[in-house]
This record gives sequence, structure tokens and C-alpha cells, in this order.
Amino acid sequence: MQRLLNQLLDDLPPGAYQRQDESADAMFYSFPRLVTHIDEHAIAAVTRLYRDWLPTGGAILDLMSSWVSHLPEEIAYGRVALLGMNAQELAANPRGNDYKVHDLNLEPTLPYADDEFDAATICVSIDYLTRPVEVLKELGRVLKPTAPLVITYSNRCFPTKVVAVWLQLSLAERGQLVAHWIDQAGLFSVAQVVDGLTDQGDPLLAVIARVKPE
Ligand SMILES: C[S@@+](CC[C@H](N)C(=O)[O-])C[C@H]1O[C@@H](n2cnc3c(N)ncnc32)[C@H](O)[C@@H]1O
Repeated sequence: MQRLLNQLLDDLPPGAYQRQDESADAMFYSFPRLVTHIDEHAIAAVTRLYRDWLPTGGAILDLMSSWVSHLPEEIAYGRVALLGMNAQELAANPRGNDYKVHDLNLEPTLPYADDEFDAATICVSIDYLTRPVEVLKELGRVLKPTAPLVITYSNRCFPTKVVAVWLQLSLAERGQLVAHWIDQAGLFSVAQVVDGLTDQGDPLLAVIARVKPE
């Protein structure tokens, strides 16, 4: 079954990365949404993962960020850099040290230097990327060797902005798709898909990998 899925993922049709709404992302994200996109159970699960995986005192890149990063309150990080689509949301994020408004679907190159970060996170957002492998390659560049990448996802989304393939897959298959993208990027160790992170409310799954050692 897994082999069949991998074969299908290797050979996705061009339409797999189309969205119902192909208008500019800048338009969709032009007004701030100061809301949470998953419930408190799923947020708590994200925070637990971050507590386990993100290095205390490290430089963290929260990609596709908003006004909340779900980082554990009791842990101090050396830097939290935010990249997202809405300046007001990013400016309101109490954990952010700096932010950049940057459309990854127009320009997957990240506006950061090589080896700038000790860890990166993408929370309930990877499904909006039309060029996920290019962005993951860039993450491999800006992260230091062995740095963790923690990608979380749920069953909630803005359906008109999600790539078509995402909507065709089950929750578990979405994890395999993300792991496949990470594998295609070629810069990370084998990704692990983690399920069962919530036992009530919104489901929360994670795909976690580390940059390969030098
Ligand atoms: C559902 S929200 C999740 C926000 C945040 N990560 C959280 O956990 O609440 C999706 C986020 O993806 C970001 N995003 C969507 N399309 C993007 C794009 N083309 N380039 C960069 N970020 C994008 C938006 O800024 C938005 O904040």
C-alpha cells in the first residue's frame, strides 16, 4: 500500500498543485485573521512537540506564521523569526523577534542566510504551498546540519487555497505526502510521521525530520 502511494506521489499530475482560488495569495491574506486555526487540544499538542524538539536558546524560524507560534511559554529562544503573509498578524506575535512578509508561492527562496537557524516549524500551513519541495530545499539550506524541522497539520484548512492533492488524501496519507516532499528535497534524514497527538477535538499530526549531518 505504502509502495503504491509512493509511486502515485512520484508521478502526480500537474493539476495536483492547483487551487480552487488561484488569485494572488496577497489578496487572500490582505486582512489580519487574529484567530486560532486549530482548537486548544491541537494547540497543546503542537506546544508539546515544540518543547520536545526545539532547542532551548536556539534560533527558531516559524515559517507560514501568524500572530501565534504555539511555543512553550516557559522556554526562552535566542531568536524567533517569523515569515508569513500578513504584517499585522506577524507584528502582533508576542514571541517574534523579527518578521518578513513573503509569498512562498511566488518566491520559494527564503530571505535568510545559510545555516542561520537551529530549528524550523510550519504549523497547519504546508498544504498552501504550490512548490513545497523548493521551499523544503530552502529550509535545508537555512537550517544548520542536524537541525529539526517540525511540520504539523490537521483536518482544518481554507479549502479554496489548499493544493488539490491535499484534499484527495486521508489524514494519514497527507503525512506520507509531506514525508515524500521532504525526501524529494534531498537534504533531510528520513521523516517520521507522528499520529495520535490528540485524543479529543481537532486531530493533530506531525511530520518531523532533521537536516542531514555535514
Ligand atoms: C492557517 S494559517 C496558520 C498560521 C499559523 N502557522 C498558526 O499556526 O496559526 C496559514 C498561514 O499560512 C501562511 N501562508 C499562506 N500562503 C502563504 C504563502 N504563499 N507564502 C507564505 N505564507 C503563506 C499565512 O500567512 C497564514 O498565516
